[in-house]
Amino acid sequence: MAKIKIVCVVGARPNFMKIAPIMAQLNKPDSKFEPFLVHTGQHYDADMKHRFFDQLGIPEPDMDLGVGSGTHGEQTAEIMKRFEPVLEQQQPAAILVVGDVNSTIACALVAVKKNIKVIHVEAGLRSYDRAMPEEINRVLTDQISDLLFTTERQAHDNLQREGIAAERVHFVGNVMIDTLLGHVKRAVPLQQTLSGLAQSEQFFSDKGFALLTLHRPSNVDNRETLERLLSVVAEISEQLPVIFPVHPRTASRMAQFSLAALIDTPRICRLAPLGYLELLGAMSKAKLVLTDSGGIQEETTALGVPCITLRENTERPITVTQGTNVIVGTDADKIRRAVDDVLTSGGKAGRIPEYWDGKAAARIVAVLEERL
Ligand code: UD1
Repeated sequence: MAKIKIVCVVGARPNFMKIAPIMAQLNKPDSKFEPFLVHTGQHYDADMKHRFFDQLGIPEPDMDLGVGSGTHGEQTAEIMKRFEPVLEQQQPAAILVVGDVNSTIACALVAVKKNIKVIHVEAGLRSYDRAMPEEINRVLTDQISDLLFTTERQAHDNLQREGIAAERVHFVGNVMIDTLLGHVKRAVPLQQTLSGLAQSEQFFSDKGFALLTLHRPSNVDNRETLERLLSVVAEISEQLPVIFPVHPRTASRMAQFSLAALIDTPRICRLAPLGYLELLGAMSKAKLVLTDSGGIQEETTALGVPCITLRENTERPITVTQGTNVIVGTDADKIRRAVDDVLTSGGKAGRIPEYWDGKAAARIVAVLEERL
């Protein structure tokens, strides 16, 4: 019997860990499906792309659209323009998109207008903050998707409120946690990541270290906010040394606003963006994580590591209601208090959310077998 073709789409770093277990399931020898992997090229630097494909065992994309960076309008339009001929050529039964980046909405929009089914993995998450570009991408992608797979039950309420029929929505758990559980044993120890760096011993003392990631436009594109955040991190580093892999957006803003000197202390170790296994090695051993990433809020919950989220809201509320996450925004006092709380009492205890068990991709493929 001919296999059913599904065009799977990735574009940016957080998509890679979500697609990896889905590709592995779709590529099993007894699979009913024939996946065709398209990388839009939204992220293209080696440390934003190639290391993830290698480390996560994702097959080389069947096609790379080479879109690159641009304004939201430019990037989204360029992805759409280059993706449409791929669908004409491939004639898939469906496309599968993950997460909430510009590649997600761009490809979903092209497919739905060609009457091709859209499958959205990680549907229904809402921050209710429309100033976040990802929120727009989430709401619109869900509206035009035929099959929606969720990571937490609250997502179903969000989707119901937006008029999306319940029979299109399936609670399957979290594919990113499939990847985490599958790779945690292979995580690269921090000692190895920092080898050869001066001052690295301080990160291995009993007191531990903090891991910092920052890349949201709302945090890094505004000079005052970025300055406030970096200043408080410099203060925190006096108590706890900080590992800071710097996203390209953040690196360019720090240079543009001349803020790098604020964190020029041997207590803060600035690194290029890390590969998946290197970040996992650092995150799993961190005393606490300071972040504005969505994925890291979930990964720290799965690892039981305290997470202090430098945003005013989260689209992943289960990491707060059940996990180790606290939302503090960008107020310096609130950030200091949250850090003190972890240092004095160990921070918030959490538990592992339902279905964050390493089997989400298998559940997705089981539904696809029934529904496609
Ligand atoms: C994108 C996603 C965001 C996700 C983040 C993870 C959208 C709207 N945003 O944000 O949801 O959390 O990825 O990283 O899709 N750049 C490089 N090399 C690269 C890629 C980007 O230098 O490989 C630089 C470029 O200067 C670019 C900037 O980073 O302009 C931002 O990249 P872009 O993909 O537009 O958004 P991110 O901030 O990475």
